[in-house]
Amino acid sequence: MKRPIAELAGTGRYSPARVMTNDEFSKILDTSDQWIRERTGIRERHIATDQETNACMAKAAALQLLGDLGMTPLDVDAIVYATASPDRLLPSAACDLQAILGAKNAAAFDVGAACAGFIYSLNVAEGLIAAEQAKNVLVIAAERLTRIMDWSDRATAVLFGDGAGATLLRPSTGSRGILSSYMKSDGTLAELLYRPGGGALHPPSEELLKDHSYFIHMAGREVFKAAVLSMADACDQALRRAGLTGADVDLMIPHQANIRIIEATAKHAGMPMDKVYVNVDRYGNTSAASIAIALDEAVRTGRLAPGMTVMLVAFGAGFTWASMVVKW
Ligand code: ACO
Repeated sequence: MKRPIAELAGTGRYSPARVMTNDEFSKILDTSDQWIRERTGIRERHIATDQETNACMAKAAALQLLGDLGMTPLDVDAIVYATASPDRLLPSAACDLQAILGAKNAAAFDVGAACAGFIYSLNVAEGLIAAEQAKNVLVIAAERLTRIMDWSDRATAVLFGDGAGATLLRPSTGSRGILSSYMKSDGTLAELLYRPGGGALHPPSEELLKDHSYFIHMAGREVFKAAVLSMADACDQALRRAGLTGADVDLMIPHQANIRIIEATAKHAGMPMDKVYVNVDRYGNTSAASIAIALDEAVRTGRLAPGMTVMLVAFGAGFTWASMVVKW
């Protein structure tokens, strides 16, 4: 097993106070609490207010993390920011965060890998440390998906939520840190899960607003099948690269999109569900933020403790998928 290059020094998170239940959705859409729970495992999700921008949620998560570590924003050398729902398209979400955080010593940029964005960003951060470009890398995963989802489409609206998670990568001094990682994508399947309009190809127009192409479009059943296969591949690769099996892993933190995808992934990895962290019931799918939020919850509740081996595994638009085994 390789000596880790980088360790995750701590975690932070932020969730909007406003919680929306499935029953509330059944008042505005042709859906029901029973359908949503049985098909996805989701009971409720957090919804950002107008004041809770993507950057504000990221800032709260970052300040919690840095405060716990006894650090200030000035100690951060780089900000790597995973999001599919930035507050604006230019400049990067990372630069907007840098400004409101006052992290003036950092280089800041975004990583676009949708729900796999947090693990992709951890990989990029590890690379910055390996190349001695940075020592303290703030990795942010923040989403305000409820602003870019179609509230009139029951097939997607009930799935998503808002929130942010943060971690800090720094050079590993012992056995703690990233043991293995894996990233993969398949751009030929992009249009199964995408936002058709709003970019430079189809700039904002009246027509675009009318046909809802500004919002997330998803072919749910196809995405579901690809997610199950890709998450299985991701588990296999990260475990193989770490020289481990599922039995060696103390906790799996999968992307929280659908309980049925999570159960299939756990089964494939040979892990019982009591070793799998699940919070999709309380957050819905927060895309890039989902693993970062779950990681912070697992740490703060003691589910993830020093010395344990944790596997992160994600799948998202792109398609992108990724995994990582970490000695905590
Ligand atoms: N309430 C009631 N009925 C619904 C709802 C709803 N909210 N949504 C869809 N239906 C209906 C459909 O219209 C369809 O009706 P029909 O049979 O009359 O046509 C029926 O339910 C079945 O629809 P399916 O799409 O086949 O349902 P499925 O069991 O596949 O569940 C779901 C849909 C939950 C979206 C599932 O496919 C899924 O979780 N897909 C994966 C999503 C995912 O993992 N995304 C990850 C990446 S997200 C990212 O990167 C941002």
